[in-house]
Amino acid sequence: MFFTHLECSKTGKTYDKDALHNLSEAGAPLLACYDTDKARKMFTPQSLLGRRKDMWRYREMLPLRTDAPAVCLGEGGTPLRETPRFKSAFGLNKVFIKDESVNPTGSFKARGLSAAVNAALERGVNAFAIPTAGNAGGALASYAALAEKPAHIFMPKDTPEAFKQECISAGAQVTLVDGLISDCGKMVAERKQKKGWFDVSTLKEPYRLEGKKTMGYELFEQLGGSLPDVILYPTGGGTGLIGMWKAFDEMQRLGWIGSERPAMISVQAEGCAPVVRAWQQGEEQARYWEGAHTCASGLRVPAAVGDFLMLRAIRESDGKAIAVSDEAMMYYSNEMARLTGIFPAPEGGAVLAALMQLRDEKTVGADDRIVLFNTGSGYKYLEAFKAFT
Ligand SMILES: Cc1ncc(COP(=O)(O)O)c(C=O)c1O
Repeated sequence: MFFTHLECSKTGKTYDKDALHNLSEAGAPLLACYDTDKARKMFTPQSLLGRRKDMWRYREMLPLRTDAPAVCLGEGGTPLRETPRFKSAFGLNKVFIKDESVNPTGSFKARGLSAAVNAALERGVNAFAIPTAGNAGGALASYAALAEKPAHIFMPKDTPEAFKQECISAGAQVTLVDGLISDCGKMVAERKQKKGWFDVSTLKEPYRLEGKKTMGYELFEQLGGSLPDVILYPTGGGTGLIGMWKAFDEMQRLGWIGSERPAMISVQAEGCAPVVRAWQQGEEQARYWEGAHTCASGLRVPAAVGDFLMLRAIRESDGKAIAVSDEAMMYYSNEMARLTGIFPAPEGGAVLAALMQLRDEKTVGADDRIVLFNTGSGYKYLEAFKAFT
C-alpha cells in the first residue's frame, strides 16, 4: 500500500493516516497523499489488466489497509457510453456519457461512501451520520447496513420520496429537516460528539474524495489511455470534480499522462449557483447562496467547504462554471433519455443543457472529445419529471 499521510488542503500541514479525522485544524478538507514514486514502478496501466472491474481495481491509490474492502457492492466500473444520435441532433460527434446511474444505490455517491465507510471501519467507527440531498444518504444507508452499523441521516423534508424510502428500508434513522442541506449539516455537527457519530459529510472526512477520484482513472482507461478535451460535471459539494482533478495529478506523477488536462466545466442550477457566481466574479471562495431552489436536489448546495478547490480546478483547467434553468435541465433530461436510452437524474440533464450553451457560444467544436457525467438515476426523481412533463 502506498498511502502515506493526509495533508491540509489550505496549509499543507500533515496528519496521521491511521487516526480518524474530519476537517483539518484550519477547517479545510484533508487530502490523502500517496508515495507515487514508489507506486509508479508497479502501478501501471498494464498492471490493471485482468483485475476486478469495480473501483477497487485502483487499490494502490486508495486508502485501505487491506486488499479487499470489508463492505462492497461492486461500486464503480460504470460504462462510458457513445452517443451516435447526438451527431444529427446536436452536431456533436464525440460526446460520451459516463453513466454513473448504474452504480449500486443508483448514483456515483456509492463510490465515495463505500470508500469512506470502509476507511472508517478500519479506524474503529461504530456509527455514522450524514447531511444529504438524497443520493449520499441512500449510499450511506446501504453500506452502513452491510457493516451492521447505525446510520443517522438528515435530509431536507422536501427531498424526493425515493431517497427517504431507500434509507428507511435499509434501516437508517432518517430525520427530515425543515431547511436545506446546510441546515442538516449544522444538526449533524451539533449532535455528533454527544452521540458518538462519525460525520461523513462531503469533504469533511478525507475518503469520499478518494472513492470519487476513481472516475478519473476510469475515464483514462476507457478512452484508451488518454483524457477527454472537456468534462461537464454537475456540481454541488464538488467531490467528483475535485476528486477527478486529484486523480489527474496522481496520474501525472505516476507517469501515466503529461501535463495536459481536460477543461473542467462545473454545472449548477440557476436557483443555486454559488460556484458559478464566484467563478464569474473572480473570487477564490464562494459566498452562501440565499434562497437556494432547484429540482436537482443534488445541486441544492448553497455553500460547500471545498469551494476553493473547485474554483482552483476550474481555473487551472481553463474551464468554466455554467448555470442552467430547471426547465432546461428537465427538457434535456428527457432528451438524453430519448436519444441515448439512459434515464438520467436531473443533474445529468443539467450537463446536457450546459453542453448546448457551450456549443452555441462555440466553446466546444463538433469533434472535441466531451464527457458528460450522468451522476444518478432518474428513477429517484419522479416528482421532478412529473412536474415538468
Ligand atoms: C445525482 C447527483 N449529482 C450531482 C451531485 C453533486 O455532487 P458533488 O457533491 O460531487 O458535487 C449530487 C449530490 O448530491 C447528486 O446526488
